Amino acid sequence: NGRVPFIAGNWKMNLDHLQSIAFVQKLAWSLKDARLDFDGVEVAVFPPFTDLRSVQTLVAADKLPVKYGAQDVSAHDAGAFTGEISGAFLKALDCEYVIIGHSERRTLHMEDDALVAAKVKAALKYDVTPVICVGETAEDLAEHGPSAVPVAQLTAALEGVGAGADIVVAYEPVWAIGSGQAATPEQAEQVAAALRAVVAESIGADAAAATRILYGGSVKSGNIAGFMRQPNVDGALVGGASLDVAEFSSISRFQ
Ligand code: G3H
Repeated sequence: NGRVPFIAGNWKMNLDHLQSIAFVQKLAWSLKDARLDFDGVEVAVFPPFTDLRSVQTLVAADKLPVKYGAQDVSAHDAGAFTGEISGAFLKALDCEYVIIGHSERRTLHMEDDALVAAKVKAALKYDVTPVICVGETAEDLAEHGPSAVPVAQLTAALEGVGAGADIVVAYEPVWAIGSGQAATPEQAEQVAAALRAVVAESIGADAAAATRILYGGSVKSGNIAGFMRQPNVDGALVGGASLDVAEFSSISRFQ
């Protein structure tokens, strides 16, 4: 299908500064040692804001084959927004990606669909590719079935986004995040296919064909291969298992 698989490690608020820097270096060594075909897979880490500058410097200086992005972005361009980080700031750090609408932000920081949509537009404005997270809770699943809530969330997130926009979508069932209870590859495929239809409807068929749709939620080396075999699943957004170099390197090789 021409889509380059994407393995993304969301570190959340883990790993201190020295651990982050050592991780990026060791990951690059590990992937090179394993002779990973970097044309065949994109590997990215998402450190806390405070480590992005160091990661930028390290990756640029050593030309490391590891990409990186931020875990959030402000919906605003600039101004009196204490504590916020703009898309322009992320672009200046050469962030290629930014995670938007992670379930932890939706739940713990009250981010609603409108704010997620505004953040998506803010990222695109500064040419930072949004990794748009959607997913249903266990209650949503019981009440509405597997696709309804993720489909509604993605539809809202793409409201007003121009045709052909460069985006990544991450389907993360909330019940699978950090629970050790991953969705089955078939469940992930079913929702990923529905999400691809939303992308087609919202920003066009070409964008839908090009958009990577990731699965996230208790991904580890032992289950990645099953997800990667699904036609509509193009990678993974990994939390806990992205905090260990050997494990994340293994996932990057789909094994
Ligand atoms: O962004 C990553 C997800 O929240 C998945 O986390 O792999 O620890 O389940 P997890």
